[in-house]
Amino acid sequence: MSKPARIDEFFIIHSARADKWRNVLSVAEKWARGEPVRGELETSLAELKIVEEFYAYPGIHGMRNLEVAIAKNDGRAAAGLVRRISDAILTHSIGRDSDGEVTGDDERMPSIVPMAIAEKRIHRPYFEVLFVTNQQPARWPAVIAEIRRLRRPEDGFIYEPVLVRSAEDAFAAIVVNPRIAAVVISDGVAVKSYHEVPVLRSILEPFAGALSGEASGLALADVLSKVRPDLDLYVTTDRAVEVLAANKAASKARRIFYAVEEPLELHLAILEGIQDRYQTPFFDNLKRYAERPIGTFHALPIARGKSVFQSEWIRDMGEFYGINLFLAESSATTGGLDSLLEPTGNIKKAQELAARAFGADHVFFVTNGTSTSNKMVVQALVAPGDIVIVDRNCHKSHHYGLVLGGGQPLYVEAFPLTKYSMYGAVPLRTIKKALLDLRDEGRLDRVRMLDLTNCTFDGHMYNTRRVMEECLAIKPDLIFLWDEAWSGFARWSPFLRSRTAMGAAAALEEWLADPSSVAAYEHQQSEFGQDPSSEQLLEARLIPDPRKVCLRVYQTNSTHKSMSAIRQGSMVLVKDVHFPKVESQFHEAVFTHASTSPNQQLIASLDVARRQMELEGYSLVMNAISIALKIRNAINTHPLISKYFRVLTPDELIPDEYRTSGFKDYFVPGTTWGHVVEAMREDEFYLDPTRMTLVCGTAGFDGTQFKGILANQYNIQVNKTSRNSVLLQSNINNTRSDVAHLVRVLIEISTELDEKLRTGGEGGRAAWASRVKSLMEDVPDLPNFSRFHDEFRSNAGRTTNEGDMRSAFFGAYNAAGCEYVPLFSAECDNRLKDGPEMVSANFVIPYPPGFPIMVPGQVLTTETIDFMRKLDVKEIHGYEKEKGLKLLKEGAAVKNT
Ligand SMILES: Cc1ncc(COP(=O)(O)O)c(C=O)c1O
Repeated sequence: MSKPARIDEFFIIHSARADKWRNVLSVAEKWARGEPVRGELETSLAELKIVEEFYAYPGIHGMRNLEVAIAKNDGRAAAGLVRRISDAILTHSIGRDSDGEVTGDDERMPSIVPMAIAEKRIHRPYFEVLFVTNQQPARWPAVIAEIRRLRRPEDGFIYEPVLVRSAEDAFAAIVVNPRIAAVVISDGVAVKSYHEVPVLRSILEPFAGALSGEASGLALADVLSKVRPDLDLYVTTDRAVEVLAANKAASKARRIFYAVEEPLELHLAILEGIQDRYQTPFFDNLKRYAERPIGTFHALPIARGKSVFQSEWIRDMGEFYGINLFLAESSATTGGLDSLLEPTGNIKKAQELAARAFGADHVFFVTNGTSTSNKMVVQALVAPGDIVIVDRNCHKSHHYGLVLGGGQPLYVEAFPLTKYSMYGAVPLRTIKKALLDLRDEGRLDRVRMLDLTNCTFDGHMYNTRRVMEECLAIKPDLIFLWDEAWSGFARWSPFLRSRTAMGAAAALEEWLADPSSVAAYEHQQSEFGQDPSSEQLLEARLIPDPRKVCLRVYQTNSTHKSMSAIRQGSMVLVKDVHFPKVESQFHEAVFTHASTSPNQQLIASLDVARRQMELEGYSLVMNAISIALKIRNAINTHPLISKYFRVLTPDELIPDEYRTSGFKDYFVPGTTWGHVVEAMREDEFYLDPTRMTLVCGTAGFDGTQFKGILANQYNIQVNKTSRNSVLLQSNINNTRSDVAHLVRVLIEISTELDEKLRTGGEGGRAAWASRVKSLMEDVPDLPNFSRFHDEFRSNAGRTTNEGDMRSAFFGAYNAAGCEYVPLFSAECDNRLKDGPEMVSANFVIPYPPGFPIMVPGQVLTTETIDFMRKLDVKEIHGYEKEKGLKLLKEGAAVKNT
């Protein structure tokens, strides 16, 4: 693999491939017209050839045919071949000939038709299988032919082989070719690539030990599974297969074969592996259910659609959604359907498959969004009075979960990004300080959970492993709840996975099982000496005691926010060594929050979303990242757009102290892939590239206003807003046409603005400049959480801020115990100055920014009031402008209501 010219090319190599072929095509067509560009054509093809080795199409023969045409000086033939290849790659119709069948003829270039046409025939999903082989390249055409001969008409899927002959090439192939769904590894292949691959080597560095000399099939399987856990891995060996199979690392291989003595068995195993991911137990059954003639005498009149399709008045609904929606509506848990609340059949199986896919021990499907998932987890694990260390800036479902369950929040603050009226994420030092304070006061036993958002709305990803490691060093049984509402997709990116809850939990689990970990812990203890002080522990990078750690990790994700699930589809992922002990509590929480009439289509979509991610998640997520990088680069380098708008770079959203790698942005000259990898591994926070904060205050628009312009005038929906920005999010659904549309729209808006400023006279320009200044500079300070009123801190410690929020919340149910003070009033000022203290009766959550400015029981301070007064947003939940601030009168709390 050649060294990518730019760092983004590594991320986007498979989409860059289509561009590169397009460039080759334009040169080939020039040559066909008689222009003297043969040299240029050969050079650009030579560059592509290295990467093309990792794809089945056009394959060795395709490339050779092209070379032959060039050697014969046949410009027209060469251009024709390049056009076919380029079209096939661009339209994703690779590997199918005009009959919709994968080509089996090495000598003939397939004539490619768009997938949609091919699809009309029986659809047999297509994938590629990587063979890491010891065979000499001269034998490869014969090997490929042998593999193809194994195809049978009854096969459910069809694949093409790709051959490589070293471990490094195998690694490169699975990174650049997302169609590879299975890998067959011959034991003992060479490690080093025959190509110059310095970038690749820097990525492989952590695996250097495992891959030295001759790569054992299992060691290579282990490395590949770390990069793409979705792959089915097979090892073939001519050594003692029984010994190999007994090896601990053998679990990474789906099967181990003795040489290729049973090629058909291998073929069938490959297909079975794909089928295992392709199956969607609940969805498959729902389809069968929909086909059955079923009469319903149940409270679900819409089922079967008769009341819809026979209606004079609502038939259009049926026509809009189609009959299957109604045939698949059911409230039954019989007839092969299962119960979401107590699954024993295909929902259970679907959840087990999801657990495998997401790297969890258990998965629970949730049909009311992650708002419900969070409440379930909090209720299941936290008892009244338990302390939960929680980001105050987290989604309201966490705060409400604590109110319902009686857990006491110990609020920790994220670092502020005042300039953009938003928060980042919570520094590890702040979290450790809270834990160490509790330790010093002998109250660690009351702490139950650390509850953080990963990634945050604006894309800050924690160093999840480091956070868990260091916290477990202070409290070895701490439970972690990672709200990954936005980033469930990150599992399928080798780059982002290590920063997900489950990615980090897997790494920690491996570390815990490694005998050398105890030594590392003991070494640190000996360095600390007897009884290290909290200051010492705060400064050190703590190592937990592997013998004491109980790994208890929960993740919630809005599958509907980043994968192909219908709105509200969410999952709870569990990796908890003590889960058996809390399982019944967990079920109680499910019973508390889950609807007894869950939507079948929603459950089916969760099942299908899992199938998709297991089979093409890697490609889709790479695409989402590549789209994001294109948008970032296009906006920030466009001469006109960048006059008014910019997408904030990682160094603008993450202060230096949390980016020790020094990584600033993907597009800073001199940034190498090595820098990105280092930042991803080491930095305290990393910015998810798919979440793009577009500053619009510099163009004179506030976030809400600009969101409206984009939606109403250009049909572009954005994610959220701040005072001076909007958040764009790329996802698995976006195409490069979307990028083009966005760029075109921003050019149009910038052109209009340019024109307005040019023709608006001095007055117009001054008004605009003052608006920009107000949006960008006169930004209110973000208020920290002040404290709970003493009335709600009867069992609290001296140094930490936890409080009994539940009592305060229910205290407000007693109307006589509440009062209102107008925000803009002398009374409010006087109370701030002279008391009595004002205590919030409820949550007050302005949108944007969307975090609670006040929580029940919180004492209001000048900072809080100042922020409220400066807020210029329309939507403030929990605040009635006409009445003023709702406060609790002193002594009004109803304890333990
Ligand atoms: C961090 C976070 N968690 C949870 C949720 C709630 O998720 P859902 O919309 O799936 O209920 C949101 C919603 O925006 C969120 O931002």
